[in-house]
Amino acid sequence: MAEVIFNKLEKVYSNGFKAVHGIDLTIADGEFMVIVGPSGCAKSTTLRMLAGLETISGGEVRIGEKVVNNLAPKERGIAMVFQNYALYPHMTVRENLAFGLKLSRMPKEQIDMQVDEAAKILELEELMDRLPRQLSGGQAQRVAVGRAIVKKPDVFLFDEPLSNLDAKLRASMRIRISDLHKQLKKSGKPATSVYVTHDQTEAMTMGDRICVMKLGHIMQVDTPDNLYHHPKNMFVAGFIGAPEMNIKPTRLAEHNGRLHITVGNNMLPLTDHQQQKLAAYKDQQVFFGVRPEFVSVADEPFADGCASGEMVRVENMGHEFFIYLKVGDYELTGRIPSDEAKPMINKGLNRKVWFRFDMHKCHIFDAKTEQNISL
Ligand SMILES: Nc1ncnc2c1ncn2[C@@H]1O[C@H](COP(=O)(O)OP(=O)(O)O)[C@@H](O)[C@H]1O
Ligand SMILES: [Mg+2]
Repeated sequence: MAEVIFNKLEKVYSNGFKAVHGIDLTIADGEFMVIVGPSGCAKSTTLRMLAGLETISGGEVRIGEKVVNNLAPKERGIAMVFQNYALYPHMTVRENLAFGLKLSRMPKEQIDMQVDEAAKILELEELMDRLPRQLSGGQAQRVAVGRAIVKKPDVFLFDEPLSNLDAKLRASMRIRISDLHKQLKKSGKPATSVYVTHDQTEAMTMGDRICVMKLGHIMQVDTPDNLYHHPKNMFVAGFIGAPEMNIKPTRLAEHNGRLHITVGNNMLPLTDHQQQKLAAYKDQQVFFGVRPEFVSVADEPFADGCASGEMVRVENMGHEFFIYLKVGDYELTGRIPSDEAKPMINKGLNRKVWFRFDMHKCHIFDAKTEQNISL
């Protein structure tokens, strides 16, 4: 059992800077939890407190049944993989893999067995006699992961382990690490994983759940699907998803007894559900948010309510186009399948087109608190 619990966890650095503001988080035994957020939001600080590499200023960290605040790293049942690999340069791959186990005075046969097992899982068998400088970035990172695996820890910690790899390798290592987690689970030896990244694609594809952080606070902890479709606030809405959600100021105007968002010179009606939720916000300034894939664009007005804007730019992604619309004094992004977009784009840019939103997928945020008030 290795549930991980943060209880009002705080970090104040010696210069007085408060990096972590009393966060609460429960990571279930065997769960893959991703902590994501922009650079400087205290992901590493949080992970390092869990690892025992950084002192805890307030609150507690529990691993399994134990409060580990005052335990040394090696007493916590964890293994950590760093961004810079941290391999010993003068040791071969085999020696790097075996080093931690030797320190723990494990019998040689047992060490060999665990090292061979890890080498097999990570396909390192051909590389065992090489030195780190004779490895590619991807191979070095596999050795770094292997060094964590051989320890058979209760909890794996990863701090941006793929950031130094190129995009292709990143994608394949992402799958490898996810598969490894599933493999351990299937074999009846699940390891809890805490994976830190600033990359929302890694977060979305790897996490059972994702914890989104901003400036030392937790903004939302949820499944990838819920973060994407039901963001609790404007920060999460904007951080998760690429291209980004369109988030723009608007006024909730009443027209024919119904609330509408105003988009440029046009109005789009709220759904019944939104109407009910937002009655108190009539005539107020709020923000609306809509993801690019829920924006439709056409040459002619849509029958059931739409707005107009100028098509100012397009980007060809192959299977789809990003279409940029100038509406009033801002731009909106639409994400349109190629077959639909091409005839429109062929008629030329810088002309009036019509668009609408799938209002069921639209979010409304309070202008002051930035909370999602349409959920
Ligand atoms: N040793 C330190 N002393 C003072 N401030 C620090 C120290 N280490 C990190 N910080 C600050 O704490 C904040 C969080 O840093 P960090 O945990 O490294 O963020 P992240 O990993 O999310 O990029 C940053 O503002 C950083 O400048
Ligand atoms: Mg960091």
